[in-house]
Amino acid sequence: MTIPAFDLKRQTALIGPDVLARIEAVMASSQFILGDTVKDFEAAVEDVIGATAIGVANGSDALYLALMALGIGPGDEVLTTPFTFFATAGSILRTGAKPVFTDIQLDTFNMDPALASTAVTPRTRAMLPVHLFGLMADLPALQQGFDGPIVEDAAQAVGASFQGLKAGSVGALGCFSFFPTKNLGAYGDAGLVSTRHSDLADRVRRLRVHGSRTKYVHDLLGINSRLDAMQAAVLLAKLPYLSRWTERRQAIALRYSHLIRDLGIDEVVPPTVPEGAVHVFHQYTIRAENRDGLMAHLKEQGIGSTVYYPLPLHLQPVLAELGYRAGDFPESERASRTVLSLPMFPELTDDEVDRVVSSIAAFYGHSTGA
Ligand SMILES: Cc1ncc(COP(=O)(O)O)c(C=O)c1O
Repeated sequence: MTIPAFDLKRQTALIGPDVLARIEAVMASSQFILGDTVKDFEAAVEDVIGATAIGVANGSDALYLALMALGIGPGDEVLTTPFTFFATAGSILRTGAKPVFTDIQLDTFNMDPALASTAVTPRTRAMLPVHLFGLMADLPALQQGFDGPIVEDAAQAVGASFQGLKAGSVGALGCFSFFPTKNLGAYGDAGLVSTRHSDLADRVRRLRVHGSRTKYVHDLLGINSRLDAMQAAVLLAKLPYLSRWTERRQAIALRYSHLIRDLGIDEVVPPTVPEGAVHVFHQYTIRAENRDGLMAHLKEQGIGSTVYYPLPLHLQPVLAELGYRAGDFPESERASRTVLSLPMFPELTDDEVDRVVSSIAAFYGHSTGA
């Protein structure tokens, strides 16, 4: 039996009828653009996020719209991490501003607050930390080193918190993705901007409809980036399951970490959960010696795994003009060489987790007895 890195079919089998009922309701209403379904989802998800929610077309646009709402543009610098998905830096470039990278802490994979504070310049208009793999960046510490606005890339962190602060509710704005593989996933592209500031909420609401408040009157230059009503219907159907899915992810992570620690091997380091953090384990990501060998071994055993991310952003060909070189961000580069995300989705069984860990043990020449 194979164990996929990710499997949506098991979830669809469980919740398919709920989703279909919501989709049929949208069809019956014929309100396909914005309208009540989008409003209902925005209202329902606000509890999870702890801030006003504005549904947009995808997580990449959420980042772009958040930066636009702050008026960021040419001549500005935005401080961010090189160890993330491309959209984080891409959104900065879309505004005409310059992404400036600062290294991560290897154990959390998130921006290192001490390094970030030294990278702030008079041109730094915003910080864009990422809550990678479902673990919130240390926003209180980042805020100590920077007076300006923080935009949270919470694409992977719906439901996460740190010291009681919810992802998406701490910075000036938060950005979420509901890409199908995310912890709360649509059946296509979908995203959301969150904010506790009514003026910013108003700007994002206008920016997502070409900068218009009154139909055909445009007082801002915006884009077309609305949350699709069909996707809002899917998300509304799934939202009631989110907390139990998150708990299951956390239980799976705990099991992986216990089993891996029990092996007592130095070659594999399980993910860190800092004190005060509620990690939602979008990914369960280990650091492993001979990572590529381990990945090939798991594949032979029918076990899927994924490398997020094999090339840090400062080394991406399209960003060469920024002038970074190999060696500039050693922790991010080390992470890219060693990370491996193991199978993680709420429907994964304990037996499957045990099999994954047994295969890891076998690769490094240890026995689990499983
Ligand atoms: C960290 C991060 N930022 C931004 C995005 C962009 O989201 P989307 O794919 O919905 O545009 C993603 C997801 O793909 C992500 O993982």
